[in-house]
Amino acid sequence: MAMNGITVRSATKDDWSQIVNLAETAFGTRYDQPEKDHIPDLFPIERAIVAVDGARVVGHTVDRTMTVTVPGDNTVQAAGVSSVTVAPTHRRRGILRALYTAQHERTEAEGVPLTMFTASEGTIYGRFGYSTSIYSNEVEIDPRRAEFRPGTPDPGGVSIATLDEAKPHIREVYDRWRRLTPGGQVRPDANWNIWFGDPERYRDGATTLFVLTHPDGYVLYRRQWKDEGENLLRVDEFRAVTAEAHIALWRVLLSMDLVTKVEADIADDDPLPYLVTNPRLVKFTHRYDSLWTRVMDVPAALTARSYRSDLDVVVAVDDPFRNAGGSFALRVRDGVAACERTDRAADLELGIDVLGGLYFGGHRARNFAAANRIQVKDAATLRAFDDAFATERDPELGWFF
Ligand SMILES: CC(C)(COP(=O)(O)OP(=O)(O)OC[C@H]1O[C@@H](n2cnc3c(N)ncnc32)[C@H](O)[C@@H]1OP(=O)(O)O)[C@@H](O)C(=O)NCCC(=O)NCCS
Repeated sequence: MAMNGITVRSATKDDWSQIVNLAETAFGTRYDQPEKDHIPDLFPIERAIVAVDGARVVGHTVDRTMTVTVPGDNTVQAAGVSSVTVAPTHRRRGILRALYTAQHERTEAEGVPLTMFTASEGTIYGRFGYSTSIYSNEVEIDPRRAEFRPGTPDPGGVSIATLDEAKPHIREVYDRWRRLTPGGQVRPDANWNIWFGDPERYRDGATTLFVLTHPDGYVLYRRQWKDEGENLLRVDEFRAVTAEAHIALWRVLLSMDLVTKVEADIADDDPLPYLVTNPRLVKFTHRYDSLWTRVMDVPAALTARSYRSDLDVVVAVDDPFRNAGGSFALRVRDGVAACERTDRAADLELGIDVLGGLYFGGHRARNFAAANRIQVKDAATLRAFDDAFATERDPELGWFF
């Protein structure tokens, strides 16, 4: 495809060094060796689409088909889009739109029902039918003041370990965790290799990774001695498959000597604030969207997840970017959905971005309706729709891409 002297085409191995320099330029960072070694396996060059101006690569996008858990412990295939970049010399002339058009045409041809990515900015992607779909919260805790509530179990079972010896355990626990958690993706070797390679830029001045293990969990964390006596413990990854593992690991994190501040990212439904006598001690310092999602095939996506209650509605979906919209009859019985195109009159109208926002359970339908982003014929229909899409467990992103 060509436009104003710019050609959009599949990438080849010869483009690789230019793609790396473009991504580093656009994101203002340099890749470390573990990333240079393993990104080509994580996001193979055959999946990359580039925009070229003469011999110069000026735009890039890539994806990888991921298996991701959806509400109800099922999984769905999703195109995980990464490293979307346009050269600072070529911005705002439609190159991102051209790259996205080519990429989403390919996703449609491949029949993958969902696309998703982690976004650098919030204003760009709504026009392409995406919504925020998973949130995470940064918290900080002063462990010297933290006390567990009387009666909180003290299950024990936590060990310190070296990263090398803990690798198989970490991978096994992650895989159990992601099967239970909407948003948890199967994690490829190449991503583990980057993580276990512990790139220096991930450390942000802190140490290499320390490890705690529990039979049903693990924590990867770093330490940093700062000026003015602050001694930080930063949790980079916390996975617990059981409530006991969650408590046991937090007990160790909050009882470490010499630490003045623990920082971690937790999901909305993380029980940590309920475990301590002073819930204000768990200070929420930042809430951010960790995933954006777009539905590419409404019946395929909606029948892949399960629902909390029965439902019979016709939903009119508007797709401003592709042709996935239309009217769909959605019928749920005992959690299982049937969905097909229909000519019947709609009970609800919404943008396809709203469906992406609801998909993993990270938003409630009633909040979209309150913002006028779902038009619904009556309150009872909204309540039924809201109940059905609500989930037992809040979603979490498995691994960043
Ligand atoms: C974000 C980026 C990819 C945009 O590329 P671009 O080629 O300038 O974008 P386009 O000209 O194709 O714009 C596509 C649409 O998005 C809008 N848009 C693009 N960048 C935007 C921004 N930063 N904020 C708001 N809107 C933006 C454009 O106005 C345009 O809207 P329209 O098609 O509805 O008229 C590019 O600026 C970039 O590489 N930034 C640094 C890296 C980055 O943030 N990548 C995104 C990672 S998720």
